Amino acid sequence: AGTLGAAAAQSDRYFGAAISAARLGDEQYTTIANREFTMVTPENEMKLDATQPARGQFNFTAGDRIYNWAVQNGKRVRGHTLLWHAAQPSWLQALSGAALRQAMIDHVNGVVGHYRGKIYAWDVVNEAYADGDSGGRRDSNFQRTGDDWIEAAFRAARAADPAAKLCYNDYNIENWSWTKTQAVYAMVRDFKQRGVPIDCVGLQAHFTSGSPYNASLRTTISSFAALGVDVQITELDIQGAPPQTYAAVVNDCLAVARCTGITVWGVRDQDSWRPGDSPLLFSGADKKPAYDAVLGALNAV
Ligand code: G3I
Repeated sequence: AGTLGAAAAQSDRYFGAAISAARLGDEQYTTIANREFTMVTPENEMKLDATQPARGQFNFTAGDRIYNWAVQNGKRVRGHTLLWHAAQPSWLQALSGAALRQAMIDHVNGVVGHYRGKIYAWDVVNEAYADGDSGGRRDSNFQRTGDDWIEAAFRAARAADPAAKLCYNDYNIENWSWTKTQAVYAMVRDFKQRGVPIDCVGLQAHFTSGSPYNASLRTTISSFAALGVDVQITELDIQGAPPQTYAAVVNDCLAVARCTGITVWGVRDQDSWRPGDSPLLFSGADKKPAYDAVLGALNAV
């Protein structure tokens, strides 16, 4: 197949990109995005500050703009992200205890309810585990309402939209030997054992020379899948590595049936959250060697 999305569809997978509403007026951007990708993740437009800027005042204008563009162009949408320590409006940051726990549930109900039946998968909780080797939770206002906040979030999301896949999403959980990976694995295993609704794990896969791709990714993907969840590569970009590293990530996903799709975190290098050192698959309108490596791997199935 001649496009990333069509090539991924050969193995019943999607290939997606993070999409920015501010760039939907850029013809070069939308031409590439429409041609190549079959899944859309709003880069910022469904985050907490965008969707509930003031308490009880939801704003879905930007999120709907991306949703509508995606659906009008035959693509599905990943919702990103319901609960995160970052991108919080100040009113939410000011809350704590029971009031924050209620506001958290109200936020999930408001956003998931608005998009009920329309979202392929929600990143229900994003980046709740600490960096480094503690294996513990990240300190955040949500975490300080009690360890059970993640379970409560997933239960609320399931009730609000039974049709959406519910994912836990994080970075630096791709290398099987990392403590953080093992901590998230233990949480997912516990959730599945106790019947807490969770359907997928998102491996962000932001690789750099400091946090490089490791071949144990295949073990990580297959280990999570063996728990009974889908695995999604949700925010792939690679700095400081040869194009073949992209093919390695694709092949690790293709090797595991329940690795259901890959999303790159932007369309062109200039759209990247961290430009420079060639993190994405396009430079302007031009396909890069990394694009060819990915397409080749997808077509080799
Ligand atoms: O929209 C405002 C604009 O009005 C204002 O003038 C400008 C300057 O203050 O800020 C703009 O908002 C920025 C937003 O991106 C849209 O460009 C925020 O400041 C900026 O913090 C935000 O950065 C995003 C970041 O998440 C934080 O939300 C990046 O674009 C986005 O790529 C990045 O993506 C995250 C994932 O959501 C989670 N995983 C990690 C990944 C990379 O950090």
